[in-house]
Amino acid sequence: APSDPDLVARARAAKEKLGERLFVLGHHYQRDEVIQFADVTGDSFKLARDAAARPDAEYIVFCGVHFMAESADILTGPRQRVILPDLAAGCSMADMARIAQVERAWEALAAAGVQDAVVPVTYMNSSAAIKAFCGRNGGVVCTSSNAEVALDWAFQQKGADTKVLFLPDQHLGRNTAVLQLGIGLDECVVWNPHKPNGGLSAEELANARMILWKGHCSVHGRFSADVIDELRAKVPDLNVLVHPECQHEVVLKADLVGSTEFIIKTIEAAPAGSSWAIGTELNLVQRLADAHPDKNIMFLDRNVCYCSTMNRIDLPHFVWALENLVEGVVVNQIEVDPQTEADALTALQRMLDLPG
Ligand code: 13P
Ligand code: SF4
Repeated sequence: APSDPDLVARARAAKEKLGERLFVLGHHYQRDEVIQFADVTGDSFKLARDAAARPDAEYIVFCGVHFMAESADILTGPRQRVILPDLAAGCSMADMARIAQVERAWEALAAAGVQDAVVPVTYMNSSAAIKAFCGRNGGVVCTSSNAEVALDWAFQQKGADTKVLFLPDQHLGRNTAVLQLGIGLDECVVWNPHKPNGGLSAEELANARMILWKGHCSVHGRFSADVIDELRAKVPDLNVLVHPECQHEVVLKADLVGSTEFIIKTIEAAPAGSSWAIGTELNLVQRLADAHPDKNIMFLDRNVCYCSTMNRIDLPHFVWALENLVEGVVVNQIEVDPQTEADALTALQRMLDLPG
């Protein structure tokens, strides 16, 4: 639907009044009505890197989800305030790993005699507390655009016997380990936080190289290998391009896999007339289809599926946050406590220092 012209005018006016004091970051899954006001758009990695790009901006309005706003707070100066226009914009995947569950798992790994060999790696899509846990325990953060380098780094930390505890997305962990690092599927086990000892036997743990947390993205989890077969039968020379949060069998059937930034670059470079089925969030797929009318771009699902929490950041919430800032009122500030921030920064900095 086209954006409400009155709200667009109000957003524009408030943004102009705030001028250099305001810096707006927008993730690629955001609605068009919001992304049009972003000073910088990006995938999680680019937004983490660029969060500190404007140290003089007093307010950083983060159009994305809670864990991204937390990361921006961690990566920016103490006088910069990070605002999430709707506090209910969480991430169901990030919520699948709670810090108490992870601490319990860590103790269980110690009791099983394997903890000394384990390096924790967390996907960006996790709470600041989980990032801090990784910082305290010799681990690192990764995103979908640097998971391979991050895992390579992790496997060098404890010699040949290194095991990685990968949080919270089992699919990104499995896809990267198996398809990019050549680790066997049988060397990946899934840790279920709702079962004693993760539901794993001592032998399974001893033989594992990747201990995958039982978490997933409900949006990317919907794409299926069957739909890929169906579309390939219908569309000649179809290219299938998916995000690594998709299930392993979907990624196996795809032609290309990568982060949202990679998906955008791939479509930009694609020849006119080429056909693409894209397995990622629908706001981004629709934007790509609109921007490239010379290419045949389709969504890799029979149904419409947006990330409902990304979509919570809409124009009314955005305008509300900005107009309050114009009045000097900071609403919905995301503030990580100093100890968590220091430990999480250790893990985030390790990621930013990775080669490439
Ligand atoms: P990227 O931004 O790393 O592509 O991840 C997609 C995602 O699901 C963010 O929530
Ligand atoms: Fe979380 Fe998936 Fe939404 Fe990304 S798309 S914010 S991983 S639920």
